[in-house]
Amino acid sequence: MIRTENLCKRYNRVEAVSNLNLDVRVGTVFGFVGENGAGKTTTMAMLATLMPPSSGRAFVAGTEVTTDPALVRRMIGYMPDVFGVYDDLTVKEYLGFYGMAYGVPGAVIEGRGAELLDMVSLSDKADAYVNSLSRGMQQRLGVARCLMHDPPVLILDEPASGLDPRSRIEMREIIKSLRARGKTVLISSHILPELAEMCDEIGIIQKGSLVACAAVEVVTARVKGQRQIAFDLLQGGMRLADVLAKHHAVTDVLVHSDTTVEVLFKGSETDQVKMVHDLAVGGYAIKSVREVGGSLEDLFLRLTESPSDAMQSRVAAGAM
Ligand SMILES: Nc1ncnc2c1ncn2[C@@H]1O[C@H](COP(=O)(O)OP(=O)(O)OP(=O)(O)O)[C@@H](O)[C@H]1O
Ligand SMILES: [Mg+2]
Repeated sequence: MIRTENLCKRYNRVEAVSNLNLDVRVGTVFGFVGENGAGKTTTMAMLATLMPPSSGRAFVAGTEVTTDPALVRRMIGYMPDVFGVYDDLTVKEYLGFYGMAYGVPGAVIEGRGAELLDMVSLSDKADAYVNSLSRGMQQRLGVARCLMHDPPVLILDEPASGLDPRSRIEMREIIKSLRARGKTVLISSHILPELAEMCDEIGIIQKGSLVACAAVEVVTARVKGQRQIAFDLLQGGMRLADVLAKHHAVTDVLVHSDTTVEVLFKGSETDQVKMVHDLAVGGYAIKSVREVGGSLEDLFLRLTESPSDAMQSRVAAGAM
């Protein structure tokens, strides 16, 4: 439903989006995760036809964004990362304004507006001024606005940013109801756990490229119960890594240097105690063992890294 092929966007010398290949299937809620400046907004703005790609292609429902932008705009509801300023507009007028802008028949506008306000729990605010709404309410209204022309695809740029925990839960429920309506949703955030709760698939964007992509169950199942443990040694990192790689509870090994080795460990605390004991008895010059508090994103990246990449980083580290 949404597809990009080697999509690129350059701003002068900055390559904001770099050979991005994305494939979001019909009816999927796809979480687009990346840190600040990763290229999420730029990608979404190209999909929303607000700026042309520098190179590569982007398609929404089979239509290329540069070929027929008007058709693409009818197919999508786009919620930008900032909510504009709307002086003297009530909530109802605001939805009516967007309905008209998208060519929704006058007879449909009022009923649809009321239905959407009900969906985002803002019915009691229909006559309130938009500027008087709280941030969470404005974000919910933003989603309702995107749905006025009943598009099959939604592109939501950080809809949960700046919301308190309760408002986040409300937003999550709204996204779930979009899925129930059969919409295809591309939603961005820089917080993986937040997206994991409402998405079917997760893609991680770094420096403009998609570096990992998987079904959300795969992400959570893989990440769950795994710990990152670092060993500091006097020497012998490569030798220790070889032994650790054979341990039943170790799922990945990374040699940072001859004096630091890191593993992903899926065993119990008792297993961990036994492993450390066996290594010490085995004569490895271990100075300390630390649990590394890597972010969920780091962990996910490590887990989705292909075996050949992992091997390369090990060899490269070992060759230092
Ligand atoms: N109008 C612009 N002119 C020049 N550079 C830009 C412009 N917009 C974005 N960039 C640069 O492009 C890169 C990607 O920015 P983008 O806003 O797409 O990231 P993002 O993933 O949405 O980040 P955030 O989480 O902060 O919203 C950044 O390096 C940014 O500085
Ligand atoms: Mg952004």
